[in-house]
Amino acid sequence: MTSPNFGASSTPALHTQKIKPIVYFIGIIAALAGLLFGLDIGVISGAQQFIEKEFHIGDQQIELIVSALLWGAVFGTFISGILSRHLGRRRTMLTSALIFVAGSLACAFAPGEYSLIAARFFLGIAVGIASFTAPLYLAEVSPQAVRGSMISMYQLMITIGILLAFLSNTWLASYATFGGVTGGHWRVMLGIIAIPAAIMFLGVLFLPESPRWLFLAGRKEDAVAVFKRMQLAESEIAAEVHDIEESTKIKQSGFQMLFQNANFRRVIGLGIGLQIIQQLTGINVIMYYAPKIFTLAGFASVSGQMWGTVVVGITNMLATFIAITLVDRLGRKPIMYAGFIVMGLALMTVGFLFNADIAKHPNLGFPAIGALLVFIIGFSMSAGPIVWIICSEIYPLTGRDVGITFSTATNWLTNAIVGMTFLTMLSTLGGGNTFLLYGGMNILFIIFFFLFVPETKGVSLESIEQKLLAGTSLKRLGK
Ligand code: BGC
Repeated sequence: MTSPNFGASSTPALHTQKIKPIVYFIGIIAALAGLLFGLDIGVISGAQQFIEKEFHIGDQQIELIVSALLWGAVFGTFISGILSRHLGRRRTMLTSALIFVAGSLACAFAPGEYSLIAARFFLGIAVGIASFTAPLYLAEVSPQAVRGSMISMYQLMITIGILLAFLSNTWLASYATFGGVTGGHWRVMLGIIAIPAAIMFLGVLFLPESPRWLFLAGRKEDAVAVFKRMQLAESEIAAEVHDIEESTKIKQSGFQMLFQNANFRRVIGLGIGLQIIQQLTGINVIMYYAPKIFTLAGFASVSGQMWGTVVVGITNMLATFIAITLVDRLGRKPIMYAGFIVMGLALMTVGFLFNADIAKHPNLGFPAIGALLVFIIGFSMSAGPIVWIICSEIYPLTGRDVGITFSTATNWLTNAIVGMTFLTMLSTLGGGNTFLLYGGMNILFIIFFFLFVPETKGVSLESIEQKLLAGTSLKRLGK
């Protein structure tokens, strides 16, 4: 669940107020960006073995192919603030949809490994732009009553995207040849994403511009016209306009704050730390390299491995609901502690089982996969969604866009480092020790959480901001 939440409520509240179908249309189209982002994360795991065979390449090049997308996303995140400010949210989303289409096709037709790396970097720019702009647009355009649920929908779409990519890979891999070419499936796997990307492009053409951006651009009349198009009642329009006028009085001056305000730098450090932790849990090792891990667990058949990825995708999506339902009842920290404990124990179990030499004891393969799934549940119920939620709550309003740029870029950067090192870790440390290391790190994460992370459940964003600027310790910013 990767989603900046720009000052919107993090509570996926279900309100009974009547929301018009057009609002849902807007939500679904913008959330398609989340789907694409999930598709691009998920697609590479199943494509790898075919790419490896066609280009006769080794681990290092595969790591580069996997991580090029993530480096592109880091770059995309950094430019998206500027693009969405100058072009508007809608045109920025259109740009990212175009890059999604062109990038997916460029991957599908890449003649060699280096052009594939370049095409994945290019595609990554779209992922980075979309991961910043779509949630920003959603937060700005949705009526307050459904803002939280709209953003949760976007987050859920990412996990659905990952699952769909796993399903489509599994289906495509079941053919011995594709288009008359043996092993040519990977091109279709990567290229097929151009279809949902084109749908997103067409859908975004029909979306209105964000009223908040129109206000910032001095186009108040156009902003009101958008609310009318969304069939809001006069009183609702007046309330939205009032809110926007109030919030646009606050100038975004994050970069200035970065140099002048030590409290702001502290909280940026917290956001960066949280995102590093989220990625160092090792979740994407499984998202990118699941078939490889299944091989380590003794499952040699390609179709068995591909179905394994589908089970991973379903578990990842379903466990997200645990967080959605509990995060505002139990609080962020208890769920995070529970998640870290589950993730730590599960990965250490995987590590011990792998070290026990599965080749000699094939009956250990199933418990190892079981433990891996328990790890996924631990992640999706905690660090997956909650890190994004906390990152959306801790920054003061004036620096929120800069804060979120830093934490989102850190997410992609650490994601890239994890993607780039896993196969090398496997070949140098061995499967067992690699997972023991990832599992053991959870102890450090728990200590970090205990020392630095505030409980933000039920605390207003204003109160967090006041405490931060008054110099309160990070841990006490919430309750
Ligand atoms: C993470 C992604 C990850 C996804 C898995 C997100 O919260 O930021 O890196 O792939 O969860 O569902």
